[in-house]
Amino acid sequence: MTDTRRLDGKIAVVTGAAAGIGLSIAGVFAREGAHVYLTDIDGEGAQAGAAALNEAGLASSAMAVDVSKGQDVSALFRDIGAGPGRIDVLVNNAGLNVREDFRHLSDADWVKIREVNLDGVVRIARDGFDLLKASGKGSLINVASIMGHRGLRQLAGYSATKGAVSALTRALAVEYAPFGIRVNALAPGFIETALTDRFIRNPMINKALIDQTPLKRFGCGEDVAAAALFFASDESGFVTGAELAVDGGMSAGL
Ligand code: NAI
Repeated sequence: MTDTRRLDGKIAVVTGAAAGIGLSIAGVFAREGAHVYLTDIDGEGAQAGAAALNEAGLASSAMAVDVSKGQDVSALFRDIGAGPGRIDVLVNNAGLNVREDFRHLSDADWVKIREVNLDGVVRIARDGFDLLKASGKGSLINVASIMGHRGLRQLAGYSATKGAVSALTRALAVEYAPFGIRVNALAPGFIETALTDRFIRNPMINKALIDQTPLKRFGCGEDVAAAALFFASDESGFVTGAELAVDGGMSAGL
């Protein structure tokens, strides 16, 4: 992606930024001129990501934040409140999956998925409000999934949380608009990360997924980061409550 400095001077926060899509988003945002806070339950991974960006002459900080823990999220926003005092771009990216047939999904596994994919998103979107408002033109970006709108075996619990994130995005777009905050969602398809590794390495599943993807490839983190950049930048100033599929056309098919 070419460096166009579309986020010059902006303060951006990305959850789940130690790896995968979150790390790609952090990198693109930093290259576009933002100061990026990389946060992750894996604090060392977030530190390593920030160190690599800083070594490349970019601006970033790292913080260990488990989005399923209220005290971690409060500490994050307290620190940023005491520092820059605003957030221009807040990306709710942290997420996980436990692959299981729904009829066998234990309470513990359901809570594990929900606590990160939905409760974490709720907490970040709610508790980050004051700092987004302080920006004057804040952008909240929720990473949902095409699985919020489609079904696939062993992903029902995951799908339920992602569908809720899509619904929350639309509702918050309406509630937050009077405060100058836009709220949009990304709906990735199959992106090559640790989350999808097992699917992609299985030759049969790999073939089935590629067969159903009109662009005939899996996505990469930068594909999603490019879409996140649009929602983060002022170029999307009249866009709120939208969801952008980044899926090689998969969800457009039958
Ligand atoms: P990943 O597994 O590569 O990275 C997820 C990151 O989130 C990891 O660094 C992990 O440590 C962190 N994380 C996990 N639990 C956390 C918690 N409680 N608090 C803070 N951080 C936590 O996954 P990937 O693929 O990069 O996924 C990122 C987001 O994109 C997730 O919300 C996922 O559901 C979504 N997504 C991914 C797709 C894909 O094909 N990879 C497709 C659609 C959506």
